Amino acid sequence: MSTDPKDPNYEPKDDPKVATAAEGAAKGEVPNELPPEAEKITFHQRLERNATLLLGASFLVVTVGGIVEIAPLFWLENTIEEVEGMRPYSPLELAGREIYIREGCYVCHSQMIRPMRDEVERYGHYSLAAESMYDHPFQWGSKRTGPDLARVGGRYSDEWHVDHLIDPQSVVPESVMPKYEFLVDTRLDTTHIRDLVATHRMVGVPYTDEMVRTAAADIRVQVDPFGDIDGLLERYPGAQVRNFDGVDALTEMDALIAYLQMLGTLVDFSTFTPDASR
Ligand code: HEC
Repeated sequence: MSTDPKDPNYEPKDDPKVATAAEGAAKGEVPNELPPEAEKITFHQRLERNATLLLGASFLVVTVGGIVEIAPLFWLENTIEEVEGMRPYSPLELAGREIYIREGCYVCHSQMIRPMRDEVERYGHYSLAAESMYDHPFQWGSKRTGPDLARVGGRYSDEWHVDHLIDPQSVVPESVMPKYEFLVDTRLDTTHIRDLVATHRMVGVPYTDEMVRTAAADIRVQVDPFGDIDGLLERYPGAQVRNFDGVDALTEMDALIAYLQMLGTLVDFSTFTPDASR
């Protein structure tokens, strides 16, 4: 005889802690009855059984959740660290960016380096919020069929970009990137550049009246080493001025390469120290 359930000689009927249905019935208890504490209706049960109360409480919960998610957006500005060097895109870079979007480059390329060791070692300093503050819409991307382009500026020569965009497999044989050879034959349509700059100003990019006024001229100056470079550089410090594709005409290739060669070059990371208090 043993009261240890693990013992081979254990007999439930000898265990004082075990009550059989027959014993319960003798005391007037109904077998399989719920324990007495289950008879109390808890607050939660009352809430679930009263539609109005449940609706009111759900509304309260959703409101609190909504405020927690939405309120920080009103202080979004605070989350963008100020960094030196960030400036609105020059008209040519902006036009190149439009081509980048039009051709769907973002489908295969991201522009956001995450703060993880493998990313930083491959691509460079992790991306800062400020670096995409003038992007409407942002080009962070969600998929990398090709590498991240956030810091591709200056990594390759213009000639490399021309060759690569005309025929990616000529420089990277295993590449799955499509050919964009038509860009070098297509003249850049500059008729709407002023409107494009003005539109970006409308959504918050700090283009000045002067920048909007000179946009149509600036877009040409950036590929013309004999133009009014000083004015352009004053408006867009660090803008790279040269014939990007080696073709006389102002082509879509010029604009796209001007954009690519600028990516990631605006912020001088030798002067940047992350503010840990944020
Ligand atoms: C189908 C996916 C795909 C599309 C669309 C695509 N690319 Fe690529 N891209 C790749 C792949 C894959 C690579 C890596 C192999 C190579 O260098 O070609 C690459 C490489 C690159 C590189 C070199 C990056 C580096 O750090 O080595 C640049 C620059 C680039 N692409 C620009 C563009 C531009 C600009 C467009 C749009 C006109 C574009 N890509 C469209 C897949 C794509």
